[in-house]
Amino acid sequence: MTDSAVVPANVQGARYDIVIRRGLLADVGSQLAKLSKSNKAAIITDSHVGLLYANVLADSLRGAGIEPIVATIPAGEDHKTLAALAPVYDTLLGGRIERTTPVLALGGGVIGDMAGFVAATLLRGVPFVQVPTTLLAMVDASVGGKTGINHATGKNLIGAFHQPLAVLIDPDVLKTLPDRELRGGLAECIKHDIIRDAKGFSSLESDISRALDRDVDYLAGLVAHDVAIKAKVVEADPFEHGERAHLNFGHTFGHAIETVSHYNYSHGECVALGMAAAAKLAGDMGLLDEPSRRRIVALIENAGLPVRGLTLPTDAVVEAMIFDKKVKGGRVRFILPDRIGHVVIRDDVPAELVTMAVESLRG
Ligand SMILES: NC(=O)c1ccc[n+]([C@@H]2O[C@H](COP(=O)([O-])OP(=O)(O)OC[C@H]3O[C@@H](n4cnc5c(N)ncnc54)[C@H](O)[C@@H]3O)[C@@H](O)[C@H]2O)c1
Ligand SMILES: [Zn+2]
Repeated sequence: MTDSAVVPANVQGARYDIVIRRGLLADVGSQLAKLSKSNKAAIITDSHVGLLYANVLADSLRGAGIEPIVATIPAGEDHKTLAALAPVYDTLLGGRIERTTPVLALGGGVIGDMAGFVAATLLRGVPFVQVPTTLLAMVDASVGGKTGINHATGKNLIGAFHQPLAVLIDPDVLKTLPDRELRGGLAECIKHDIIRDAKGFSSLESDISRALDRDVDYLAGLVAHDVAIKAKVVEADPFEHGERAHLNFGHTFGHAIETVSHYNYSHGECVALGMAAAAKLAGDMGLLDEPSRRRIVALIENAGLPVRGLTLPTDAVVEAMIFDKKVKGGRVRFILPDRIGHVVIRDDVPAELVTMAVESLRG
């Protein structure tokens, strides 16, 4: 397939294209040559993705007359630290990177956030291009311009906004993505449709098995659909004063489960449980009808994600929510669907209903 989808993004005054095309990885060099006059580019990748794809990307740059400088970070969220960045700055500055040299992020959300932070800070800011390789990075992390690293006291506490020149997505790389990572990305796709697109939700209901079977043409269309939703939400509210909070659907419960479980569940699994809890809460608040709640739970389950079986103490999860950073004026805000494709923000939820929603995940 040579079909290409281009989703235009316009965030914080930066206009750029999100390009989705099978085989695009081998064509990044010629895409980059259109965007930048630099004859060098830095590739920041992780130890898994680098082994699989750095050569293809580096060759593609060389083919376009661009010399690659490659910096590799050990794979995994544990390395999303300031310490792991020191050798990256050494490699890039040692390679005589200049103000116009683009930095390419080749990897999942961890690499996207870290490379974006490097691009934001090196020489007070150099051009940045995202080449996301996980479904989560494609549909979520690569859009919006948030970059950063973790600190011992919490996730993503050091960072900057830095918009890319382009986001170049090759859905063929999803063939090698571990199953659990694929399902985690699907949790965010389901979230996007619940908050914005009832039709998209119905399509996903019929076609979720195509995603799980790695039908790459199908995944390419799904990614285009989802980046368009994320881009639209972020464009309307780049600094998260209002509707960008809708993207936190499932995340208020989800982050609490993530913390209390000490990261034994993946982020996507926590979001899945969180969406099921939020749907239950929306039902108990009289916002969402029961058939819609059931459809939400069924789709999450059909994507191979958890909706029950939680063994964590309910009190601990509820406590953790109160400490969530999204707390405003002492009240926890919940993003609740009042129908599939639409959500409302509520900060007046009775504590008993929150407890019941967490409790409902045990069954
Ligand atoms: N900036 C944002 O707006 C934003 C939004 C959501 C999440 N995030 C961040 O994203 C991070 C999570 O990202 P993630 O889920 O992509 O995790 P990740 O980057 O750790 O990738 C998951 C794993 O898959 C491997 N991998 C990546 N692509 C692969 C491929 N194509 N084939 C085989 N293996 C591959 C990686 O090496 C890693 O081991 C978190 O740090 C989170 O804070 C950022
Ligand atoms: Zn998420």
